[in-house]
Amino acid sequence: MSGTITEMPQATFEPRNLQFGVDGGVPKYWVDGRKSVTTFFNNLSIFFPAGERFFIASVRAHQAHVKGARLHKEVRAFCAQEGIHSREHDRYNEMLERQGYPVAELEQRVEKLLARVTRRLPKRMQLAATAALEHFTALLAHALLKEAEKDTNIFDRAHPTMAALWKWHAAEESEHKCVAYDVYLAAGGYYGERVAVMAFATIVFWAKVFEHQAYMMKSDDTLYSPSEWAKLGWGLFGNPGTLRKILPLYFLYYKPSFHPRDLDCSAAIAQWKREFESSPEYQAA
Ligand SMILES: [Fe+2]
Ligand SMILES: [Fe+2]
Repeated sequence: MSGTITEMPQATFEPRNLQFGVDGGVPKYWVDGRKSVTTFFNNLSIFFPAGERFFIASVRAHQAHVKGARLHKEVRAFCAQEGIHSREHDRYNEMLERQGYPVAELEQRVEKLLARVTRRLPKRMQLAATAALEHFTALLAHALLKEAEKDTNIFDRAHPTMAALWKWHAAEESEHKCVAYDVYLAAGGYYGERVAVMAFATIVFWAKVFEHQAYMMKSDDTLYSPSEWAKLGWGLFGNPGTLRKILPLYFLYYKPSFHPRDLDCSAAIAQWKREFESSPEYQAA
């Protein structure tokens, strides 16, 4: 007699509860002594704790629209991953505070901005903003993971703990890149709203990143250093050109048929998983 086994749909990814050694031993300019490139990544880190809490809240607010066991489980795994990222970037940012950066002030600016967004935008537009910003994190992840496959990448000679932290965050961003978008679609999200919010989020987010970069570089006494700005521009747009490489992929979001799964970096994630299994940095985390 033959029977049918009904499998419970599983989330395609799981959180990894890691704690990185950011309490001591990380040099201030952990990207190979490069000041402005290091401050660029540190600058992004300051956006994460409040940003990821906003992502979780906006996805949870639409949970009633989620149909199907698989998406339910993915929402849960998404919230768990983002919660752990938020905690680890809090610890990372405490390290930056000890290094003398104006972290409390910058984090407060991010929190105020998100509080304004939460107060003024309808709930579904907040979720559209999350989907838009998740496209940015997926793009950055795509660039970092694809670069990590090569011998020359932006973290080539970076401190191993910090490189491991960023690559772990990148891999998990890539794993859960569809969740906020799928919940947005389930909640009745539509093309016009999605792309209008993306255009708005692009301007606001990158203006803030630039402003915070200036704050961070002022704290480093490099704000008026043309060579530091040139080194940052070269790293992001020249070689390895992390942002240059993802710029064309950014515009995919404006295609009516766009879905985050179009951004395939499964081979790069598979490679990272092998590194995750064997690297002492992850075993210690
Ligand atoms: Fe995250
Ligand atoms: Fe995310």
